[in-house]
Amino acid sequence: MEKHFKRTTVTSALPYANGPVHIGHLAGVYVPADIYVRYLRAKGEDVLFIGGSDEHGVPITIRAKKEGCTPQDVVDRYHKLIKDSFEEFGISFDVYSRTTSKVHEQTASDFFRKLYDKGEFIERTSEQYYDEEAGQFLADRYIVGECPHCHNLNAYGDQCEVCGTSLSPTELINPHSAISGSKPVMRETKHWYLPLDRHEGWLRKWILEEHKEWRPNVYGQCKSWLDLGLQPRAVSRDLDWGIPVPVEGAEGKVLYVWFDAPIGYISNTKELLPDSWERWWKDPETRLIHFIGKDNIVFHCIVFPAMLKAEGSYILPDNVPANEFLNLEGDKISTSRNWAVWLHEYLRDFPGKQDVLRYVLTANAPETKDNDFTWRDFQARNNNELVAVYGNFVNRALVLSNKYFDGKVPAPGALEDIDREVINELSTIRDRVERLLDAFKFRDAQKEAMTLARVGNKYLADTEPWKLAKTDMARVATILNISLQLVANLAIVFEPFLPFSTGKLKLMLNLADTGWSRLGGLDLLPVGHVLGEPELLFEKIDDDKINEQVSRLEEIKKANAEANYKANPVRENVAFDDFLKLDIRVGTVLECTKVPKADKLLQFKIDDGIATRTIVSGIAKHYAPEELVGKQVCFIANLPPRKLKGIESAGMILSAEDHDGTLSVITPMRQVKPGSEVK
Ligand code: 2FM
Ligand code: ZN
Repeated sequence: MEKHFKRTTVTSALPYANGPVHIGHLAGVYVPADIYVRYLRAKGEDVLFIGGSDEHGVPITIRAKKEGCTPQDVVDRYHKLIKDSFEEFGISFDVYSRTTSKVHEQTASDFFRKLYDKGEFIERTSEQYYDEEAGQFLADRYIVGECPHCHNLNAYGDQCEVCGTSLSPTELINPHSAISGSKPVMRETKHWYLPLDRHEGWLRKWILEEHKEWRPNVYGQCKSWLDLGLQPRAVSRDLDWGIPVPVEGAEGKVLYVWFDAPIGYISNTKELLPDSWERWWKDPETRLIHFIGKDNIVFHCIVFPAMLKAEGSYILPDNVPANEFLNLEGDKISTSRNWAVWLHEYLRDFPGKQDVLRYVLTANAPETKDNDFTWRDFQARNNNELVAVYGNFVNRALVLSNKYFDGKVPAPGALEDIDREVINELSTIRDRVERLLDAFKFRDAQKEAMTLARVGNKYLADTEPWKLAKTDMARVATILNISLQLVANLAIVFEPFLPFSTGKLKLMLNLADTGWSRLGGLDLLPVGHVLGEPELLFEKIDDDKINEQVSRLEEIKKANAEANYKANPVRENVAFDDFLKLDIRVGTVLECTKVPKADKLLQFKIDDGIATRTIVSGIAKHYAPEELVGKQVCFIANLPPRKLKGIESAGMILSAEDHDGTLSVITPMRQVKPGSEVK
C-alpha cells in the first residue's frame, strides 16, 4: 500500500567548494531536484529543499597548498561562486549553507559524540605512515610508492591505478610522502570506525526487500556492496582541516569528510528552522529524498543510513534517485583537464538563457545511463523545439488574439472534432506528467509537456484561423480560446522545468495564479480576460555562437593532447631484437568474472589456441564482465605468471589508456584464430 506522507525533505548533494560547478552537476543533481521541488510546491505540498557546500576533506587542503593560501580562503571563494551560479539558474533552495558554519560544526560534533557515547563506534590503533618533515600523517593519496603487483612507481596509498589493485599504504614498496617527497616513518595512531558489518542485516532487508522500487542503477550498486560484505569504515582522519573529533585524546584528528558532509543536510535545516527542524528529520510522516550523482550512492544508501540508524531518532531516506554521469562532446567531464561547461561561463556567453540549458540538460538527463551533451544538440533543441514549437505556438496564439480580439480572450462556440482531440489530449496531461514526476522520470515528464506544445502548434497549423478570419469569426474565436487555454496550461506544466520562461509567459498572459491543480482545465483564462503584451519566449541561437563554443573545446582538447605527450613523452628507441622478445598473441575470452574484494579486477579465462589461460586484469571499472565474453583480446603471452588477489595470472591483456584514464581493450579488426601472433 502507498504510504501517506505529510511533508517531504529534499536534499541535493553538497558540492565540494574547491572549484566552480559545471553542467554535469546541474544535470545530475540540481536541475532534477529543483524540478521535483517546484512540482511539489505547485501542488501545495509541504516541502523543504536543502543545499549547501561541502567544505572539508583532503582535496580542499591540496588545492590550498597548491595555491599558497588557506583552506578557508579556498572554500570562501568557491562557496560564493557556486551559490551564485545556483541562484542564477533558479535552483530554488530553501537554504544553501556550508559545512564550515558554526551550526554545522556543533551538529556534526554532537552527532559523533552521541554515537560515541552509545558505543556505536569501534576504536582501532594501527601504524600509519607519518611525514616527519611535514609533521603530518599521510592518509590515502598523500602517500606514493611502487606497486607490489605491477611495479608501477606511482601507486597511491589506497590503490594502484595501473593494475587496479586496492592497496593499503603499508603494501607500497619504497613509499614516500606526496607532500615533501621524504621517506615516511611508522607511527601509531588511533581512529574511530563505524562498524558497517553490524548494520548489514537490517540494511539488506531495508534495501533489497523493501526498496525494490529504487532505480536499477541504485539498487544494483547497493546489492553488489552488500553482497561483497560490509567492513568497518574509519570516520576520523589525522588532518588539520575539518571538525575536531570531540573525544578526549583525539587532538589533531578531525571527522572524515564523508562523516560530516551528509550531517550538513541536517545542520542546514537547523540553521533555517532552529525551532522546527526536527519535524523534517525525525517524524515518520516525513519523506526524505536524496538527489545525488552515482559516485555518492554508497554513502547515501549505506553509510549515512547506518549513521542515522545508529543515532536512533532519525528517519531513513525513502528514495535516492541517483543519476549517472553526463559527458561533454563524447568525453568525460573533467575539472583538471578543463573539459567542462562552467555555469558562470555559460551565463557570460548566453545571458538570460538559463532555461535553454535547463531544458537541454533535462532532455538529455543521464537518468538510466551516462549521456552526452553536445553544442549542436543544444542548438537543435533550442531552435527546433523551444523556438519552433513551444515559442512559436505561444507567439501565434497571442499575436492572433491581439489582432482579432483586441488582446482579450474570445468566447468559444460549437466544437468540432479537431477541437475535441486537442481537449482530450489536455484532459490527461496532468495524470501523465504526475505519474512520471512521482517516479523521478524527469526527462519523460518534460517530453510530455513539449508534446502538449506540439499539439497546440499543430492545431493552429491545421485549423489556420488567419484564413478563417475573413469568413468565420465565430470559428476563429473558438480556436483561439482553446489555443489560449492550452498556452496557459503550458505555463503550469513547464513551470518546474523552465521557471524563467514561465514567469515571462505569465506576464504575457496576465495570469497570476497557476496552481498545479488547474492543469488540464479549459477555464484558466476567463472569457474577456485582458492579455499582456506578447514577446518572444525563446530566440534562435545562430551557428556563430555555437561555433565559438566548439572551437573553444577543440583548443582545450589540443592543449590536453600536448600536455599528455609532455607528461608521457615517447620513450627511447628500443632495439628491434628487444621488441621481438615480447610474445603478443590473440585469444578469445571464454569467461570473464569480477574478482571478489577487488573493485578493479576482472578474471579472464582465455582460449589461447592450445589451452585455457587465466589472466587477471585491472579493467573492471571500464567494462562489465559480460561485455567481454566472446571478444578477442591481445595479451602478452610470455610474462612470468604472478599472483593477484590469490589468483595466478598468466599474462597481461593490452588496453589503450585515454587521457582521462579510461581503458579500452585492444582487439583485432577481423576475427583471427586464437593463438595468432601480433607483430
Ligand atoms: O561528491 C561530492 O561532491 C561530495 N561533496 C558530495 C557530498 S554529499 C553530502 F553528503 F553532503
Ligand atoms: Zn599495480
